[in-house]
Parts: sequence; structure tokens; C-alpha cells
Amino acid sequence: MGELVLRPLDVRFDWTGLPLQWVPGEPAASHILNTLHLLLPEGERWFVETFKQALPLIRDDMLREDVLGFIGQEAIHAEAHQGVLDYFATHDMDPTPYTRQMEWLFRKVLGDRDRGDEARKRDFLIEKVAFVAAIEHYTAFLGDWVLDTPGLDRAQADPVMLDLLRWHGSEEVVHRSVAYDLMVHLDPSYGRRVRGLLIGGPILFWLWARGARFLMATDPSSSKQKVTIRAWQQAAGKCLLPAPRALLRSAFRYLRPGYHPSLEGSTSRALEYLAASPAAKAAAA
Ligand SMILES: [Fe+2]
Ligand SMILES: [Fe+2]
Repeated sequence: MGELVLRPLDVRFDWTGLPLQWVPGEPAASHILNTLHLLLPEGERWFVETFKQALPLIRDDMLREDVLGFIGQEAIHAEAHQGVLDYFATHDMDPTPYTRQMEWLFRKVLGDRDRGDEARKRDFLIEKVAFVAAIEHYTAFLGDWVLDTPGLDRAQADPVMLDLLRWHGSEEVVHRSVAYDLMVHLDPSYGRRVRGLLIGGPILFWLWARGARFLMATDPSSSKQKVTIRAWQQAAGKCLLPAPRALLRSAFRYLRPGYHPSLEGSTSRALEYLAASPAAKAAAA
């Protein structure tokens, strides 16, 4: 990461009065983005556990500092999104049928269990770091997108939710190289990088589609509109979601031999947002 020191930023969000469809009149866009709250608390806690396990393998002091900063930031992200889930649960939208599955996936399937000898354990840990690196490519992509998209402001999206997404997105942009650098430090092979994306990408897409459909079906105020690729494209046309094509193009960039996350997104733009985030100011007050 060079000169930039990664520090977790305290934030405070007040969800009082948040509508479940916080992009007015746009249930599909609201719930496709709300799926983040279903996936991230368990997912980011798993990132934290994975990276803590990788700490003893790091032989570079600067990278270790970055990984520690990353761990601190992801832990706060998980709790911030958990706050939204807790709010949903008190507003007739019980997320537990879905989040129990996330717990099973991240704690049991991808968690700690006996995987044989030390070499196999180490290899599985590096494989998990490669998944995280691929997912972090996408969290940085989404962070960059949410910072710049005019559609959510135009649609008068809930300002507290927009701040959550832009604060989180900014930190994703700022720490976008850490997981990738850790993966390369532990295994520089191109095969590891490709596998992380080819396995992690479709799983993430599938979890996301299921999550959006679950929320749409569970939301008592929803028109039960189907979450389809067409609905996604329509919302993307209004700049309420990133375009499917842009996501695909981004995947191909990750596979380029000369790829590095520092070539994507703008750190200065993200730092600018963090300095102005209402949630960060509320926590500092
Ligand atoms: Fe995060
Ligand atoms: Fe991240």
C-alpha cells in the first residue's frame, strides 16, 4: 500500500425511519443492494478470521501492517451491516432463514475443521485468501461505482443508507490491494488468482441472486416483483445498480496478466468521501 496507513474509522448510523425500500419506487434496486446486508456480516467476519490465520505466514512488515488495518476495517463493516439486519428484523422482515445459511457456509464449509496435515491446511488457507482477493476486486469495483453513480441521489435514496454504502465503498477502494498483495505474497501463481475468481465469482453471484429474491419475497411492503436480469438491467439504466456488462468486463480485467488492484479506482476520491462521511462525523462528535 506504500505510504497510506489503513486505519479503521468509527462510524455511527441511525436507522430510525429507514424504509425497507430505501430507493423510493424501486423495489428491485433496493433489495439487490439490501442483499449486501445479508452477505456481508458473516462474509466479512470470515475475511477477518481468514486473515488472522494468515498473519503468521507474512514475512513482510509493511504487508502485515496493511493486513492488520484491513482486519480492523472489515470488522467494523460487518457490524455496520449487522445493524441494518437487526433493524430489518424489528420491521417484519426476518432475515434469519437466509443468514443461517450464510453462517453454515462461512463457519462450517469454509471455516475451521480438520483438513489433514500442515501442508494441506496451509494450501486451503491460501485458497481462501485467493477467494477473498477475488471478492475484494468486486467490493472495490462496487465501492468505486457507488461513489460516482448519480442515480441513487437522483432517485432520492435514503441518505443514511447511501452514506453507509459510500463509507463502506470508500474503505473498499482504499484497501483494495491488501487481499491481492497477501495472495501474491503467499502464492504468486496465476492459477491461484484465476481459481479464486472462477470459483468465488459464480458463488457470489448465486448467493446474491438468492438473497435478492429472498428479500423481495419477505418484504411485507413489496409488490413481489421478480428479481430478474431484466429488472437489474432496467435499474442499471437509471444508474441505480452497476451494469451487468460492466461487472463482466471487470472480471476480465482481474484475469489480465498485468493486473493489480491499484490500477482500478481512485484512492483520493475515496479518502475525500471518508473525510466528509456523516456517519464518521457523528461517531467523532
Ligand atoms: Fe468491507
Ligand atoms: Fe474489503
